[in-house]
Amino acid sequence: MMILVGGEKGGSGKSCLAQNLAVHFARNKNAIVLMVDCDPQRTTSDWIQARNSDPSLPAINCIQLYGKIRNDLLSLGQHYDYVIVDCGGQDNLALRAAMSVADHVIIPLRPKRRDLKTVPHMEDMLSTCKMVNPKMIASFVITQCPSLPNQAGRILEAKEVCSSYGINVLSAVTFNRNIYDDSEEQGSSVIEIDPSGKAAAEMIAIAEELMAMKPDNAHEFN
Ligand SMILES: Nc1ncnc2c1ncn2[C@@H]1O[C@H](COP(=O)(O)OP(=O)(O)OP(=O)(O)O)[C@@H](O)[C@H]1O
Ligand SMILES: [Mg+2]
Repeated sequence: MMILVGGEKGGSGKSCLAQNLAVHFARNKNAIVLMVDCDPQRTTSDWIQARNSDPSLPAINCIQLYGKIRNDLLSLGQHYDYVIVDCGGQDNLALRAAMSVADHVIIPLRPKRRDLKTVPHMEDMLSTCKMVNPKMIASFVITQCPSLPNQAGRILEAKEVCSSYGINVLSAVTFNRNIYDDSEEQGSSVIEIDPSGKAAAEMIAIAEELMAMKPDNAHEFN
């Protein structure tokens, strides 16, 4: 199973989601997981380095790949239960290459205009890649949501923008919580720091919703 966490908007929570999904599958599903870091800023590689320096945290494999990574991903996919690719907008070639082989493409967006403005371009890129990779299931997930009740409309509006472009949007969201940043700093995850906490529940809900989706139920691109 190859899961690409991608998108072109900086800071939307791609690396954070990729890392927490990796821990979830390794820890809760007993899976053999590989992370692929396609970001020249090396956020996930740095997180792995922090993780490896803490002997209490189970190791997760990670490699860096850039550019035309389609064939590398195809062969790596045969050796792991889950390959989780963290791919930002800087390496557009790697993002497209990963989209052409991934089973799931998940794109985090904050409920903010500047993030939502990337939706038309992402839809364009997704429908092109879907032609070579018809099994791919693409979804948006709304992240870093404000928790004040009077802001709930923003979350719904963000979901409507995604749906209006015909792309699935997960019902699971993440709220703005310091534990995401704090856990990342330590090479850990919200699932390890507070397994019964709200952030861990958010990450598990995202993972379960993704895994419950079947290509036949996914939205068809025109
Ligand atoms: N739900 C959340 N609540 C609060 N902080 C969050 C949340 N999700 C992510 N963050 C924090 O926001 C910052 C940016 O997240 P992250 O690095 O995952 O974004 P990114 O999309 O990978 O960015 P880049 O485009 O630079 O690679 C990090 O400090 C991360 O810990
Ligand atoms: Mg990142």
